[in-house]
Formats: sequence, structure tokens, C-alpha cells
Amino acid sequence: MKKATLARGLPAGLRATVEPLKRLLPYLGKHRGVAAAALICSVLSQGATLIGPKILQQIVAVVLEAGQRDQLPLLAGAIVAVAAIKGALSFAEIVLGARAGLSVVTSMRADLYAHLTRLSFGYFDRVRTGQLLSRITSDLEPVGGFCTWGFRMIFRSVILFAGVLAVCIWMNPRLALLSLSTMPLLTATAYFVGERIRPAFERAREQLGVVTTRLQENLSGIRIVKLYVREPLERERYRAASEVLRDRNYEAQRIDAAYYPLTGFWAGLSGLLVLWIGGMEVLHGRLTLPEYVAFEAYLLLLLLPMRMLGYMVSGMQRAAAAINRLTAILDEVPDVRDPERPVRLGRIEGAVRFENVTFGYTRDTPVLRGVSFSVRPGETVGILGATGSGKSTLVALIPRFYDPQEGVVRIDGHDVRALDRRELRRQIGIVFQESFLFTGTIRENIAFGHPDATDAEVEEAARKADIHDFVASLELGYQTPVGERGLTLSGGQQQRVALARALLTDPRILILDDCTSSLDTRTEHRIQTRLASYMAGRTTFIIAQRASSVARADRIFVLENGAIVEEGAPDDLLRNPESLFARLYQLQEQAGSRAGESGLPAPASG
Ligand SMILES: Nc1ncnc2c1ncn2[C@@H]1O[C@H](COP(=O)(O)OP(=O)(O)OP(=O)(O)O)[C@@H](O)[C@H]1O
Ligand SMILES: [Mg+2]
Repeated sequence: MKKATLARGLPAGLRATVEPLKRLLPYLGKHRGVAAAALICSVLSQGATLIGPKILQQIVAVVLEAGQRDQLPLLAGAIVAVAAIKGALSFAEIVLGARAGLSVVTSMRADLYAHLTRLSFGYFDRVRTGQLLSRITSDLEPVGGFCTWGFRMIFRSVILFAGVLAVCIWMNPRLALLSLSTMPLLTATAYFVGERIRPAFERAREQLGVVTTRLQENLSGIRIVKLYVREPLERERYRAASEVLRDRNYEAQRIDAAYYPLTGFWAGLSGLLVLWIGGMEVLHGRLTLPEYVAFEAYLLLLLLPMRMLGYMVSGMQRAAAAINRLTAILDEVPDVRDPERPVRLGRIEGAVRFENVTFGYTRDTPVLRGVSFSVRPGETVGILGATGSGKSTLVALIPRFYDPQEGVVRIDGHDVRALDRRELRRQIGIVFQESFLFTGTIRENIAFGHPDATDAEVEEAARKADIHDFVASLELGYQTPVGERGLTLSGGQQQRVALARALLTDPRILILDDCTSSLDTRTEHRIQTRLASYMAGRTTFIIAQRASSVARADRIFVLENGAIVEEGAPDDLLRNPESLFARLYQLQEQAGSRAGESGLPAPASG
């Protein structure tokens, strides 16, 4: 691989820094025009810098030694001109560098998000949202800093260093070598401190993720926190996590702090050596005074980048630590992937078949055990079962959110693993157990899966979901904004918006996961009546808690502990007093009439 050749032969520690940074190359490549322009400006401006000491040498030689005072204004003018040119070039370099760096970060951010959207459900089950948030927001920062500033600093230092060294060797090789005498010490310092600082930054970054996760979860669950009066405890836990973050950052900063004095010391030492030995050279007549002055001026130019070496290395380590966390996302391979040559089904009929399907979220705890069934196109299936019996899991395999560990899920006779997922999912409408609304208007939420829908189509879907009358009663109607999690809507209203959203996509297979659980039986009944014609010709799975909710289905599956333990037409099951469905139905009917549910006045919709 090309990657390996570049870093091969580097010590492990250095490789650990260089490898992550190399991940930036494709992004730099994307913006190579601006990046190259910035670097060219940098080279030219360093070139201008190198002229300075030469003019100084001329001033000492011509004006001070030879006494040609009339030359002074000309030479002084030259210094000003060079400074002006250098300033202009620096300005261009910084502006272009910032542009290149920001473009790199923007591309990377877009890539991260795009990749996240490609990852499968299993990944989001595993990874905490807060960790992802902290990575995509705060971990991009040091990368941005490195791209806009750090990288350019290193580049210009290297150019300046090479330039100064070349001029110095040309002027006096002995003295030049002498000025380099502390370089090994400087390099060793940078290396050893760098070795320690990257892991320290990594630990701090990790903890930042923990703090962000805690904050994010506490804000999402603020009602629970308040209800259980957990504020003091949660405050304490947040403070403790913040303190760990502080300590880890402090540790990194402490190591970082050693850089500047150490590198500064070595740089100063080499300056002193040159001053001393160079002075002796002048006294022995092996070096002229103007040359000596110029030489010192050149070394002075080197002092700054040498002292800055620490900052550069730590900026690089910071970026490397952050990139490692970001590439962990980018390198995540989705466990559910499209086949090389997916079968193109076009419009599906909607036959769903499970063949001996076994599935668990982790390998050793199966949630579904050898589930087999066959559903005809257009059939309506009601799924009942105790909480945790695997109902939601079962339907999650139909749009291939997960792949079964054993067995096959077939749509129209094709293994779903052979199909194009986008094509498949576009024809499946799901109302999840927990409705989620995005920040935006009600219309935007309903039209989420079909943004080009006309107003009439949106309204039609809303009518079927029995939410239209409510929306129409709002002052802003469909343009009413709903909050982050649909905070302004009740649970039942949210469920119905989510239902309208699924209906609008005109799916071939419709899955309703407990989507009427927050509705009273009357509203549920009304929706069922309205949906009857919609469901005709579409395969529908209705998961429900109440047996009455699925009494109109063509067939009932009763799930127990991940297996279908009862199956049949509701009427047949009801006739059999031994059946689980009949027993559940009776139990719930009795409970319902005792609670006076059927005696409630007809609720206004909404
Ligand atoms: N994303 C997940 N990651 C790991 N385990 C999960 C996940 N979702 C569900 N489970 C587990 O799988 C089992 C079945 O869950 P599932 O959600 O399918 O049940 P359910 O029948 O839909 O229950 P309910 O009626 O409460 O919605 C449970 O033991 C649950 O802990
Ligand atoms: Mg469920």
C-alpha cells in the first residue's frame, strides 16, 4: 500500500503521529489549488525574509566600514521594500492558508456526516450520541487549527530552516555546522515530549466525549431528572466528569508546558555558541565583521521557528489524536451492506417470508428463534406478544435494518440481502414505536419521506391518520412549527403525525409498531376505519398491545420469547377458548368495560 511506504522506517512514536495526519492528504488534494497557492506565497515570503540579513551585511560593510554614508538611504529603502513585499506575501499566505484549512475541515465534516448516514442500526445501538457529537464538533477543532495554522507553520519553518542553513553553509560551513550542534537535542526533546503528549490529548478527548454524552442525555431526559429529583446527584456527576476532564487536560498542558522552555533553551544555547565561536573567528580574521553580523541575523531568524517547534509538535499531536477519533468513525464498516450487483425489483408485490430466522443483537442472546412465516401480498397481519417478546425486532428485519444470524428474510421471494436497500426501504413505510419529530413545521414532518408532495397529498395523509382536523384548528395550520422532539404536541398527536408521514410515502409494505398505543380506543377505531381502504392491496403488519386493535387483521401472530407460538385468523382463534389470542381478547374486553372505556364521550379529534 502507498500509505505504508511513506512512514516505513520511522520510529513507532513518530509513525503514530504521521499516520493519522496522512489521512488529511486526500482532503488537501481536493483543495490543492488554494493549498498550493498558500505554500507558494509561503516560500516567496521566506525568500524575502532571507534577503534581510544580506542587506544588513551591506550596511555594515559599505556604510560602517567603508564610510559611504550616502548609500544608507538606498539600503534602508531596500529593507523597507523587502519588508513590504514580505508583508504582502505573508498576508496572502495567511488568507489562502485559512481558506485551504477551512475547506479541508468542511469537506471532512461533510464526509463524517455522510459516512454516519451510511452506517447501520447496529452501530447506533453501540455508540453513544454524545460521543459522536463531541467528535464531530470538538474533535474537528484541533484538526482545523492544524490545517489553517499548524501545517503552514511547520512548512514555513522547514523552508526557512533550509534556506538559512543553505546561506549559512555558503557563508561559513564551520559556523553553520556549529549552529546545528544542538539540533539533535532539540529533536530528541520534541520527540520524547511528543510521545507523551499525544496519549495525554487522546485521554482528554475521550473524556470530553463522556462529558458531552452526560450533558446530552441529561438534557434529553431533563423531565425524568426533575421528576425523580435527581438534579443534585446529576449536577454532582456532571461536575465529577468535568473535573476528570480538567485533570486530563491539565496533564496534557503540563507536558505541553515543558516544550517551550526546553526547545527555547537548546535554541538559545546554539545562539550562544555561534556568538562565542563566531567572535573568535572574527578575531582570528577568518570571518569579516559584516559577515559575522549577517550570520547572527540569520541565526536570529532561526531562533523563532526553533522555539516554536514545541508548539508545532504539540499542535500536530493534538490534531493526530483528534484525527484518530474521527477516522474511527470513517473506518467503521457498515455491517449491513448492499450486494455488488443488487437485484432490481422495481415495484414490489409485498410478499414477506421468514425462513427459520434466528437473530440477536449480540451473538449469544437470540431475540428471535427460528421464526418462519409467509405473508401474501396485501395481507394484514396483527402481531401480539408480551413486552420484550421480539415484535419490534421481527419487523426490523423486513427493511433489513439488521441481518439475521440464521435463516432468510424474503421479499417477493428474494433474499433481502440481495436487494438494493434504498429501493427496498422506499417501498416500506414504518411508524416506529417511539415517534420522533424533527424541528420544523408539521408539513415538513409529514412530508419528510416525500418532500415534493402537494398540499392535497399531505392533507389526505393527515386525514387518514386522523390528525387533519387538529392541524386545521391551529392558527398556522400545517406551517405550525414543532419543537426538537415535537414538544408542543401530545404523544398521541405525535404518533398520528408519524403515521401520516408513513402513509404519504405510499409504501407497498406498511408496518405500524404500536402506533396507536397513545390513542384512546375510539380514535384508534376511527383511524382503522379510515385506513381500511388504504391498507387494501398493501401488506401490513400491525403490532399492538390490545387484542382488539388487531381484531380486523387477516391473520394474527402471537409472539412469545422470540418465537411465534400461535397463528391464525382472528375469528378462528376467538372461537377456540384455549387460544392465547382469545384469552387476551376476553381479558382486555373485561378490563376495558370495567374501566368504563366504552362509556367515554366521543373525543374531539386532537
Ligand atoms: N437495539 C437493541 N439492542 C440490543 N438489544 C435490543 C435492542 N432492541 C431490543 N433489544 C432486546 O431485544 C429483545 C426484544 O425487544 P423488542 O423491542 O423486539 O421487543 P418488543 O416485543 O417490541 O417489546 P415491546 O412490546 O416492549 O415494544 C428485548 O430483550 C430487548 O432488550
Ligand atoms: Mg416494540
